[in-house]
Amino acid sequence: MLPGMEFQDVVRRRRMVRAYDPDRPVPAEVRDRLLSNALHAPSAGFSQGWAFLVLEEAGDRDRFWAVTSGPDEPPDAWLRGMRAAPLLVVALSHRDAYLERYAEPDKGWADRNEARWPVPYWHIDTGFASLLILLTAVDAGLGACFFGIPPERIDPFRDAFGVPPAHTPVGVISLGYRAPDRPSPSLRRGRRPLTDVVHHGRW
Ligand SMILES: Cc1cc2nc3c(=O)[nH]c(=O)nc-3n(C[C@H](O)[C@H](O)[C@H](O)COP(=O)(O)O)c2cc1C
Repeated sequence: MLPGMEFQDVVRRRRMVRAYDPDRPVPAEVRDRLLSNALHAPSAGFSQGWAFLVLEEAGDRDRFWAVTSGPDEPPDAWLRGMRAAPLLVVALSHRDAYLERYAEPDKGWADRNEARWPVPYWHIDTGFASLLILLTAVDAGLGACFFGIPPERIDPFRDAFGVPPAHTPVGVISLGYRAPDRPSPSLRRGRRPLTDVVHHGRW
């Protein structure tokens, strides 16, 4: 049996962590487990139209923060905490992998028409894979946070890292050993109760 936590504890303990110990890198074997587990996410037609850009060299991480947050802005508390993360994983979705996969004979959507996809499963599946990274981080004793790249920073991000146009960054996962942080003010909203969210039998 592999070391790790009870599944229920992993789920209940997961929360976004926005400050990290800058002096404690993520061991290579833990990094590899985070990424291998991501590949066990489900995907429509087993298309697996995802990709992960791993940034762990200080220079690469600095470049990421410079192009996504603006090199001239003084870092706020959020950025100071996040910049300490020794590992960043950018999760990217690849729409064309789905259009191609579903053009195969067993699926039969040879027109490659995006209108057949009212919900873009390439983004969904990349999100599923990202959640597996977040849960694996908890299991491995790491903190992690999923966050977005601001829209006006997407092209600078692409240019800086040579990301092909067909790949869309869905989000970024910062990872590392936790430092004390302040919970997000969003949490004051409280978790919605089951009775609000779940509709039994009929809406
Ligand atoms: C799609 C998505 C985007 C998010 N973007 C950000 C972000 O840009 N910055 C951030 O600090 N947290 C971000 N979060 C984290 C949420 O604020 C967090 O999940 C939520 O407040 C619930 O807290 P918990 O995950 O710690 O339980 C994001 C989460 C998701 C799922």
